[in-house]
Amino acid sequence: MPKEKQELSDAMRRKLSVKSTEKKPINGTKFTIAISSAKGGVGKSTFATNLALALKKIGCKVGILDADIYGPSIPKMFGINEKPKSDGQKLEPIIKYDIQCMSIGFLTDEKTPMIWRGPMVTSAIKTFAQKVNWRDLDFIIVDMPPGTGDTQLTFSQGIEINGAIIVSTPQEVALLDVKRGIKMFDKLGVKILGLIDNMSSFTGDDGKKYAIFGEGGVKRTAEEFNKKFLAEIPINPEVGKSGDQGKPIVESYPENEISQIYLDLAKKIKSIYL
Ligand SMILES: Nc1ncnc2c1ncn2[C@@H]1O[C@H](COP(=O)(O)OP(=O)(O)OP(=O)(O)O)[C@@H](O)[C@H]1O
Ligand SMILES: [Mg+2]
Repeated sequence: MPKEKQELSDAMRRKLSVKSTEKKPINGTKFTIAISSAKGGVGKSTFATNLALALKKIGCKVGILDADIYGPSIPKMFGINEKPKSDGQKLEPIIKYDIQCMSIGFLTDEKTPMIWRGPMVTSAIKTFAQKVNWRDLDFIIVDMPPGTGDTQLTFSQGIEINGAIIVSTPQEVALLDVKRGIKMFDKLGVKILGLIDNMSSFTGDDGKKYAIFGEGGVKRTAEEFNKKFLAEIPINPEVGKSGDQGKPIVESYPENEISQIYLDLAKKIKSIYL
């Protein structure tokens, strides 16, 4: 890391009174990967679920933690309708497609909005990190909410994140938020594995590729901030449909070109850590 950046990062950590040694790993887990983007609706949850499934398919033991307290997506995307069991001390993750899953959505009624203040969100996140019986996991994939708020701070300060992946769509408004997200992780000393260009283009029935939301913006942002550009994922209606049906595309159509992108990425990530 350049000296200036290191000093900025150290100063920020001192200001927040957080030493990296105070960050605790999630129990039962080797590596925690956060899927983030300051922008809403860019495909974080879709990416998190499919990456988790791809890592499982190449032989890793995987969990998924839905950190979106106000708008949990994991129950729907994994098609889970049951409540987790508890022994009064710890919660049991729900296992689906061989993945250990936990979400606030398992504990609440789907139609009831979560009207919680920040400290309650912080406490729910800590419960998920410390009081869930995660078992023997290589990776936990954390599906972050949009923004740079309480959840991101709770993770960045108290829970060890071994890598963050930032998902964006190519529009300028999305990229503005992404830049804020990159700066936040940099300041908090969280390693950014790289950026993903989601919904990068659409190929029509005529076989032509259309860059509906613009082209190359995510790659340029990665270069600007000296981050890796990990992959581009095109728009494919099957992605949305399979997520809505509770069986994400990597699980329902492993041969699809989108699933192959996820599998390649999973191999890269596995080779970095294991
Ligand atoms: N590559 C893709 N092709 C087609 N549809 C996609 C793709 N990626 C995501 N989507 C769709 O875009 C919508 C938003 O995705 P998703 O819920 O994953 O975003 P998000 O960033 O998690 O949103 P939020 O900020 O609300 O948590 C969903 O309907 C999803 O199916
Ligand atoms: Mg989401």
